[in-house]
Amino acid sequence: DWTSAAFVETTIADIKATVGDDKVVLALSGGVDSSVAAVLLHKAIGKNLHCIFVDNGLLRKNEYESVLEQYKDFGLNIKGVDAKDKFLSQLAGVEDPEQKRKIIGRVFIEVFDEESHLIQDVKWLAQGTIYPDIIESVSVKGPSATIKSHHNVGGLPDFMKLKVVEPLKTLFKDEVRRVGTALGLESFILGRHPFPGPGLGIRIIGEVTAEKVAILQDADKIYIDNLKDAGLYDQVWQAGAIFLPVRSVGVMGDERTYENVIALRAVESLDGMTADWCHLPYPVLAKISNEIINKVKGINRVVYDISSKPPATIEWE
Ligand code: XMP
Repeated sequence: DWTSAAFVETTIADIKATVGDDKVVLALSGGVDSSVAAVLLHKAIGKNLHCIFVDNGLLRKNEYESVLEQYKDFGLNIKGVDAKDKFLSQLAGVEDPEQKRKIIGRVFIEVFDEESHLIQDVKWLAQGTIYPDIIESVSVKGPSATIKSHHNVGGLPDFMKLKVVEPLKTLFKDEVRRVGTALGLESFILGRHPFPGPGLGIRIIGEVTAEKVAILQDADKIYIDNLKDAGLYDQVWQAGAIFLPVRSVGVMGDERTYENVIALRAVESLDGMTADWCHLPYPVLAKISNEIINKVKGINRVVYDISSKPPATIEWE
C-alpha cells in the first residue's frame, strides 16, 4: 500500500545509506522529474548535492531566470550555466530535426561534463529517471533530457564514469507528482506541461537562429499566458507554439506584409504516446491570434493544429 510520505521517508534513508558523505551532481531541467529528484536528494544529503541548470538558449521566455530563482528559494546548491551562444553557433545552418537533436544532446553533454569537472571529488550522478523512461525509452524520438548511464566507461565524458543514483526509477508520473507535493514543491514546477529536452530547437522548423528563437518565445508566452488567464492551462496536457519557415502575405494598415507563420498546438493525452488535439474555445483562440499578430514583429498569420497522434506526432519535428 503505497503512500508518498512513506516513500519519501524510506528513499531519504536509502540515499543516505548509499551515498554517505559523497558528493552528487545532478542536471536540473526545470521539469517535474529532475526537480523532485533534486529536492529528495537535497533533503537526504543537503549541500553535497550539486545541481547544474544549463541555459541552452532554447528555453521558454524568462524560464531560465524564473526557474533558477525558484530552485534557489528551495535552498538547492545550484549553478546556472549560460551556454546559449555555444548551442546556437553549433546549430547554425542545420535544418534536419534528428541532426538538431544530436547537436543539442552533444553540446549539453559537453557543457555538463565541463561543469561537473569543476566539482571536487564528485562520486555520483543523480538522475530523475522514472519507470516509464526505462520501459519506453525506445519511443522517444531522440536524446532526452535524461542522460543515459553506460557500463562501458572507456572514452566517455567524465561524469558518465560516476556511479548512478536514480531515486524515482520505480515511480510513475502521477506518483512523482504526489511525492513532489509531499516535499512541498509548488504547482509552479509540479503543474508544468511536459517540455522536450531540445526545447524550442525542435519547435522552429528548419534552421534555428537567435532571431527566430526570440520571435517564438514572444509568441509562445502570449499563447501560454492566455491559456492560464482563461483557466485552461491545467486542462491541457501540453501546449506550445511552433515557428514555421513559411512566409505569407498580409496587410497591416496600408502596408503589404510578407512574414512568417506561427502554429499553435494543444493536446490532451495521458502519457504522450497518443494524443488528441484540444477543442480550445474560439474566443480564446481569437484573442491569442490577435495578440500574437499585433505584438510579435515578424508574424502576420496564426494557424491552429487540428491533428491527432497518431498519425501526427505532438511535436512537428
Ligand atoms: P511526439 O512528438 O513524439 O512527442 O509525439 C511525445 C512527447 O515527447 C516529447 N518529446 C521529446 N522529449 N526529447 C525529449 O526530452 C525529445 O527529443 C523529444 N521529442 C518529443 C514531446 O514534447 C511530447 O511530450
